[in-house]
Amino acid sequence: MKQIESTTQKRANRRSFLKNGIAAAGAVTVGAGLLSNGLSALGADQNAGISEGDAAVLQFLATAEILETDLWQQYTELGGQNAPDSGYKTGLQQLDGDMPQYISDNTDDEMSHELFINAYLKSKGAKPVDLEPFRILEGSQVTDIPGVASRKRLTNLMQLSVDTSWWTRYRSDSQNPDLGDTFPNAVPTLATGKFTAIPRNNAELEIGNTIVPVDTHVQAIANTAGFHFAFIEQGGTSLYAAMAQKVTNLEVLRIVLSIGGTEIMHFQTWHDKAGNAVPLTDGALVFPDLTNDIPQPETLQSNLIMPEPTIFLSQKFPVCSIIRPTATKGVATGAAKALTNDGLFIGQTPSFFEFLSDLAAEADAANREA
Ligand SMILES: [Fe+2]
Ligand SMILES: [Fe+2]
Repeated sequence: MKQIESTTQKRANRRSFLKNGIAAAGAVTVGAGLLSNGLSALGADQNAGISEGDAAVLQFLATAEILETDLWQQYTELGGQNAPDSGYKTGLQQLDGDMPQYISDNTDDEMSHELFINAYLKSKGAKPVDLEPFRILEGSQVTDIPGVASRKRLTNLMQLSVDTSWWTRYRSDSQNPDLGDTFPNAVPTLATGKFTAIPRNNAELEIGNTIVPVDTHVQAIANTAGFHFAFIEQGGTSLYAAMAQKVTNLEVLRIVLSIGGTEIMHFQTWHDKAGNAVPLTDGALVFPDLTNDIPQPETLQSNLIMPEPTIFLSQKFPVCSIIRPTATKGVATGAAKALTNDGLFIGQTPSFFEFLSDLAAEADAANREA
């Protein structure tokens, strides 16, 4: 009897081996088909490596990283470590002397995230994300830095409405966006108008100008960039924390946690620097003095850059210092909406928005499997 069982087991193992072998070969074929035809995730067959949900999460994160890379590249070209001296670069340096270095390094990080996640997706037979068909936007028309004006972009940094409520949200000790609370903007005018965060032309770049104080309008552009940096990276911080709760595979969780941690580092750095934005008025745009205005409420004070402990999960627990928000419901759709409201996609085509919302919906449908 034992022997029969053993033989049966061997047969079963052999069948299982064949099945897995066929499945794996099938996955390659299906994967190749998806590469050319479809947008949806691959991975229903666990033997391909990751689940459909995990693939969808990673595809949305890859999309976010490609968009981040695109916008950070624009900042690097105009104000990064290798950008020539200009009024804009000097304006950025008013926030911190190391701003150009940080901008270049943040750009490198986003590029590495994008390339890694896409390579990982591919290694698992899932479809990597390609946004190149949407690289159609005109960017800065600065001609004093070669190449800038001729490159097409995915994102628009010249008509931004920057949400600065992350500033007050992290200073609140009694409210949490996951419990429905909303927060005022630290720079209210920046959220209501449409402002450029990069020089649109040579006049706004002021090549060669290292004189301080910088022209008020150019400093306003640099200030806008300073707050935009933190807005973007805070978004990444919450996005990864939420996505981590939706993935199934332990290695995918490791990827999400490990990359997400660097988004937190970026956010914390930019949060600190934004507080040094030069107080000024440039037309409708007003940057308040977040450092010296007395009395300054605690919700605005610029040296309070550590997250204030606040209510987390429920009132019944003691307050806790946390990333916020981290709720998972509709997180990808919410992230796409926040970036759209930021003005980042002004000029993009309906097919871009369709592509983005499809990927977001697939990521939102993903749930951690037992
Ligand atoms: Fe990133
Ligand atoms: Fe980032």
